[in-house]
Amino acid sequence: MDARERHLRLLTETIEAVNSTLDLQEVLALVATKVPDALATDACFVYLYDERAGELVLRATHGTPIDELSRRPRMRPGEGITGSAAAARAPVMLESAAHLDPRFKNFPNLPEDEYQSILAVPILTRDGTLEGALNVRTRDPRSFSEDEVELLLAIAAQVAQSIEHAKLYAEAQRRVNELEALARISEAVQDSLYLEESLEAIVKTTMEALGATGAALVLDDGSIAWPEGVAAAYAIRQPLRWRGRQIGELVADRDTQFFDGDRELLASIATHAAVALEHGRAVLRGVLAQEIHHRVKNNLQTVASLLRLQARSEEAIDPREALEHSVNRILAIAAVHELLTERREEDVQLADLIDRLRSMLVQGVGGGKAVTASLAEVSLSGARATALALVFAELLQNALEHGGDAITVELVRRDGDVVLAIADDGPGLLGAAAGTGLSIVRALVRDELRGSLSLGEGRGARAEVVFPA
Ligand SMILES: Nc1ncnc2c1ncn2[C@@H]1O[C@H](COP(=O)(O)OP(=O)(O)OP(=O)(O)O)[C@@H](O)[C@H]1O
Ligand SMILES: [Mg+2]
Repeated sequence: MDARERHLRLLTETIEAVNSTLDLQEVLALVATKVPDALATDACFVYLYDERAGELVLRATHGTPIDELSRRPRMRPGEGITGSAAAARAPVMLESAAHLDPRFKNFPNLPEDEYQSILAVPILTRDGTLEGALNVRTRDPRSFSEDEVELLLAIAAQVAQSIEHAKLYAEAQRRVNELEALARISEAVQDSLYLEESLEAIVKTTMEALGATGAALVLDDGSIAWPEGVAAAYAIRQPLRWRGRQIGELVADRDTQFFDGDRELLASIATHAAVALEHGRAVLRGVLAQEIHHRVKNNLQTVASLLRLQARSEEAIDPREALEHSVNRILAIAAVHELLTERREEDVQLADLIDRLRSMLVQGVGGGKAVTASLAEVSLSGARATALALVFAELLQNALEHGGDAITVELVRRDGDVVLAIADDGPGLLGAAAGTGLSIVRALVRDELRGSLSLGEGRGARAEVVFPA
């Protein structure tokens, strides 16, 4: 096969490869092996220009396997002979002793001084953008003909086209990935009933889409919700905005730097995340508001039935006393709400509640009586705590009004039950007619606390309420 034929074959093969594959590395590898064949050289080096780093990076070789290079040789345009060709955007040819040329740059892991000649050409796109450079080398001195220079330039032009294709493909692929990630998020946000689930999906998709080692959603109060994975050298943060207000931040970590494309993708995800977060919160607010209305209605009904009960009492009632007792009952209910608001918890600590009611009643009805209390740690839901507050208020009020001077309050756990006992050293309950107070206690213990009430006899009075914890 004569040289002309070899050259033509090389050019055809390169064009074919460029048009049939989107894999840039494949084209570069083909060029690096075929060019030395066609031009009868000993080696070929193909460098791509990394625009971000401003460096030419060795990507394919023939003669020196690239795997053996522990660190890929890099150089700036203008540096070394190949770099000079790139900077000048023109071929550079040296027939012999290339390593003695002042432009020569020695790479410790490239045995370049074994080559005498070099022909280096830039890889330029049609509009003149630098995409890389490639060279061929021979061990013996050798000059390259004009045809050979032309051929290498033609090959370089094909490589440039291949690089353009690969870039377009990578960009299209990035868009596809982005759309897929956003579709996954929309799906998760629509499908899950719970805010937690959507946000978890958002954080997980963020990690996948960005190839991050970790991601998290930081809420506006600074709390970190839904952390996934681990932190790394580089972090990227994207605020979540809702109607112009920042409501949180989406954070991702990665071992490698983040670029504009990643930032754009994260911004799109953050828009979805903000919608999911606000939507979830609105649902939550609705549920919460409903629950509060429900509780308020229940408590007002309780107050109404307490007043009705009192109004229907057969006994002659002292209006002032009746009003005072009613006020205490309403305040007992209020104490539960007060604790619920202060603690921001779902449950009420009974020790806190009893303490509060005790000081309120001792101050109001007290008459200088001593009330000692020993209270175990027990918590109840808001509704049951309200019932217990009313029960306790009635029983303590009775002890203060009708009982002895020494009053003890005890709250203990016993075999899965809670026991509340109020005792005093007064005349005792024996034979006393039940009034409104004790009827309220009986009804609440039975219906709300699902427990039992026993009024003990002995030294003084002892009322004991037992209900399941
Ligand atoms: N700790 C106690 N020591 C002595 N007698 C008591 C004690 N607790 C209740 N009693 C008696 O039981 C009666 C009924 O109590 P109850 O609480 O039902 O009605 P009240 O206290 O009289 O009025 P109110 O309905 O306003 O509470 C009381 O009138 C009182 O005679
Ligand atoms: Mg009473």
